[in-house]
Amino acid sequence: MRQEPAARIALRQSWDDYVLLRLEAPDVAAEARPGQFLMVRVGETLDPLLRRPISLHAREGGSLEIFFQVAGRGTALLAEKEEGETLDILGPLGRGFDLEADFHGRRAVLVGGGRGIAPLFYLGRELRAKGADVKVLYGGRSLRDLPVRDKFAADGLDIACATDDGSFGRPGFVTGLLEAEIARRAPDALFVCGPDPMMRAAAGIAAAGRIPAQISLESLMGCGFGACWGCVKRIVRGDGGRWRKICEDGPVFPAGEILWEGAE
Ligand SMILES: Cc1cc2nc3c(=O)[nH]c(=O)nc-3n(C[C@H](O)[C@H](O)[C@H](O)COP(=O)(O)OP(=O)(O)OC[C@H]3O[C@@H](n4cnc5c(N)ncnc54)[C@H](O)[C@@H]3O)c2cc1C
Ligand code: FES
Repeated sequence: MRQEPAARIALRQSWDDYVLLRLEAPDVAAEARPGQFLMVRVGETLDPLLRRPISLHAREGGSLEIFFQVAGRGTALLAEKEEGETLDILGPLGRGFDLEADFHGRRAVLVGGGRGIAPLFYLGRELRAKGADVKVLYGGRSLRDLPVRDKFAADGLDIACATDDGSFGRPGFVTGLLEAEIARRAPDALFVCGPDPMMRAAAGIAAAGRIPAQISLESLMGCGFGACWGCVKRIVRGDGGRWRKICEDGPVFPAGEILWEGAE
């Protein structure tokens, strides 16, 4: 983990309440892996005090991209940052996606819901570099919630979309798209990030199809590196559901190890 107190914003793009920032941070980028995240200081003053966790969206040489949706005060402040300004970041943090297996010739399906698409661009590129056949499924409430869909396609990643309101792609939830994709050709591995109900449904689909799945969980975070216990959730891990730190033991967990809330 490194702190870069003045990562320069080299690029800013925005679509309604979604923002992409490219940050020059060679030391942090050198250690980055897909599924890891940054703790970003959002303001110049002590209010808001806590940094906000944001996933690594892409690595471009010595630069890192983040892609986020304005959810409250912190992300609204972050969205006001302009090109040429700097950001104080801490990272890379957490245990990202486990890419130790041999993915050559294997079929990997990546499922992202809303802002949960953020880590999947970096992951898709990395899996492709390892020889995997990558398919990305991107879901959102409406067409306006799929702002980075063309970026995946422009990079040569095979992507299909779903919208709840039917304004773009397949009408319905992205999990419907996942079921259709599995029926067409079963994947060897699933990677999922999005809202809890979507991830839980995707984990159920993976279990039913006996497909190994990795899920990137969210949690409120105080420090991001294991010091505050602010992020704990109960995860099974075969130990009866001990509390785990999402920031340090995750945020990515095997789907079969997750004890979903209310499922006890
Ligand atoms: C490991 C990790 C990676 C993340 N990556 C991204 C990303 O790449 N892009 C992105 O848009 N968002 C991401 N998030 C979510 C993002 O951190 C929150 O949206 C952000 O911290 C909200 O801060 P805020 O001050 O804008 O809103 P707040 O006013 O703090 O909160 C607004 C609403 O969001 C809820 N919320 C706040 N923080 C979280 C959280 N961590 N998890 C779930 N709900 C939360 C609050 O309960 C509240 O309802 C990630 C979260 C985690 C834990
Ligand atoms: S956020 Fe502090 S321990 Fe996880």
